[in-house]
Amino acid sequence: MMTTRREFLKRTAVAAAAPSALAMACAEPSVPSPVGDPIRPLVVSTWNMGLGANEAAWEVLSAGGRALDAVEAGVRVPEGDPNEMTVGLGGFPDRDGIVTLDACIMDENGRCGSVAALEGIVHPVSVARLVMERTPHVMLVGKGAQDFAVANGFEIENLLTPDAEAAWRRWLAEQGPERPPINVENHDTIGMLAIDQAGNLSGACTTSGAGMKYHGRVGDSPIIGAGLYVDNEVGGATSTGWGEAVIRAVGCFLVVELMRQGHSPAKACEMAVDRVIAKNPDWRDIQVGFLAVNRQGEVGAFCIAPGFNYALRTSEVENVMFDAPSRI
Ligand code: GLY
Repeated sequence: MMTTRREFLKRTAVAAAAPSALAMACAEPSVPSPVGDPIRPLVVSTWNMGLGANEAAWEVLSAGGRALDAVEAGVRVPEGDPNEMTVGLGGFPDRDGIVTLDACIMDENGRCGSVAALEGIVHPVSVARLVMERTPHVMLVGKGAQDFAVANGFEIENLLTPDAEAAWRRWLAEQGPERPPINVENHDTIGMLAIDQAGNLSGACTTSGAGMKYHGRVGDSPIIGAGLYVDNEVGGATSTGWGEAVIRAVGCFLVVELMRQGHSPAKACEMAVDRVIAKNPDWRDIQVGFLAVNRQGEVGAFCIAPGFNYALRTSEVENVMFDAPSRI
């Protein structure tokens, strides 16, 4: 059965769709269970950079490709963009002026791979995929991850662009904040979830992490269950924002488990944000956002503070941005 755009919007809890790709709409915090055919293929990803990433993923999905290939192709777009200063090439460095990257990927079979504190490699998500496919492990970090990447054909490059270096030097001169603000103007992570034509889910998440972090700091993005979790029987979730708070709540695993209990993606994300709030007395000073999809193709999101947005692409919804509802 063909789903109309109207039905789709109702089913995905989107209150109003914007006419242009960059205009914003709002997702409702609670929605009924979807009825009818599942929506597929579908790709959804965090922040404005999700638009370009979704297009690359959509090329794979619309050709009948696998969700795993789609999410890898999708997040490689911001990873390779020197103007995206929170992901991959051109990402903000740590306080020592070194760019270190975190990424993970998870497929429909529950297989997953991850790299953390990886230096000099533009596409950590692809290294994470090879950790999943070519090793008996889930996670490689630091020099070991870099050695593994080089052994598998990746080249070491300088990831510190002049703009990112200038930002770091300004931060040094001004003795900038230990915890930089994270929101739409200064987003931090691309997390992507996709459902392919076969109905299988995969996800990927990649970041340069908190700008001016301590050297060696690892956030939520490469931690399976924190920055990303996919269960093909239920759905998937990804997160953005202050990674320490997400790790404490094992945020994305929590979202998926709440969906397993019957909550919609929107409600599960809202409940996970409330868990983060309950566990972090400083919650008014941080941003955390969750984005989720269930295997029916119902999408939802929620965040602490206004400003978190996401991009959605399906056969019925051209790449459109939506604002996530917020607790504040
Ligand atoms: N959410 C990305 C990070 O905290 O590193």
